[in-house]
Amino acid sequence: MKNEVQVIVRPARNVRGTVRLPGDKSISHRYAMLAGIAEGSSRLENYSTGADCASTLGCMRALGVAWERNDKDGNVIEVQGRGLSLNGPASALDCGNSGSTMRMLSGIVAGQDFTSEMVGDESLSRRPMARVITPLSAMGAQIASRGGNPPLRITGATLKAIDYIMPVASAQVKSCLLFAGLFADGETRIEEPLRTRDHGEIALRAFGAKLDHASNGTGNVVRIRGGQRLRGIEARIPGDLSSAAFFLCAAALFRGSQLTVSGLLMNPTRARLLDILMQIGLRISVTQLDEIHGELVGSLQVEGATLTQATIAGADSAALIDEIPVLAAIAPYTEHGIEIRDAKELRVKESDRIAAVASNLRLMGAQVEEREDGLKIPGQQTLHGAELDSFGDHRIAMAFAVAALRAAGETLIRGAESAAISYPAFFQTLEEITER
Ligand code: S3P
Repeated sequence: MKNEVQVIVRPARNVRGTVRLPGDKSISHRYAMLAGIAEGSSRLENYSTGADCASTLGCMRALGVAWERNDKDGNVIEVQGRGLSLNGPASALDCGNSGSTMRMLSGIVAGQDFTSEMVGDESLSRRPMARVITPLSAMGAQIASRGGNPPLRITGATLKAIDYIMPVASAQVKSCLLFAGLFADGETRIEEPLRTRDHGEIALRAFGAKLDHASNGTGNVVRIRGGQRLRGIEARIPGDLSSAAFFLCAAALFRGSQLTVSGLLMNPTRARLLDILMQIGLRISVTQLDEIHGELVGSLQVEGATLTQATIAGADSAALIDEIPVLAAIAPYTEHGIEIRDAKELRVKESDRIAAVASNLRLMGAQVEEREDGLKIPGQQTLHGAELDSFGDHRIAMAFAVAALRAAGETLIRGAESAAISYPAFFQTLEEITER
């Protein structure tokens, strides 16, 4: 996809309304993969509408997993699980733009008795894969790559369990190794330096696997025994909190805003955004809270107020990694600004998100200090509409549609089609809740 669609965002007066989000992207990927290697069928309601999760389904089909989509009932995917052994794919597994698909699925194909090739688009082809190649090779898979980048050629094996301390805090890597652990002889132990999202652990338990879990102070230690069989589930996937982030931040820009968000994922490893937004002034009340297959789901009532300031660093930067672009995009409208540190992982996401945010904010007339591992953005700035680029990155396109709501004049976003990677209906929903 190359800068095909341009969207114009006009300034707004207020944000008001009710939103219900498509299913969480992280959970959708994991459920689709585990449903494929489970025994029996699974029914996944509210499956993510994003192109990334469609890439995962496409790869599962290429690996011999039968599934059907029923869109009439709200994105229901019915999957016929094959058990742990999949079919060798006839052609390369196309992961599209999705790092999650390539990294997590590599843990499953590494345990098969065939060779698979995994390819991605231009952006994915630049992203680091050594983080999965190193531990999967230690488990016995043979992996060839282009200097640590995709494409990957993975020859599966009967894996050996490892004891692995992850050098980078990454939930994708943790899930990859837990999935590989299912195919290993013995017990795989994974230690993470900082606490990352735990959807892999929760999903494995939902599909019937047993895991041990302990804290190591800052992060987690998870252990899984190989050879466990999974069974299919019926689940409704909670609304995507990282997509809701754009509307929550839009509501944060207007003192009189009122937003209701229902059926939203509230997993504590993902919900740090809510604390930060409350700290800086947004009023958020949780009006309902339930648990589905181990994941917390809730409804929120949100009201805007004056935004103060925030510093995001250390464990918070890992916990908020997908929400930092939109927090940075609203930073100029706060009283005292937002500073982001310890976030150099942002440089190897779908785009270099630190550079992309700095470049777009500057085009809107903002003052920004760009650092190797973050950004410092002063508050009380007045921004003007501008011609911006998404850099082919869904979260950059959506973050700047939000920043544009408080700018003077119109903003044009080039490459706006990239929003469909995680949220095809984003611009439409944003229009529905903005008052002009
Ligand atoms: C994800 C983990 C994060 C995040 C990505 C989804 C996941 O990546 O940025 O959008 O579903 O596990 P890393 O694990 O590389 O930090």
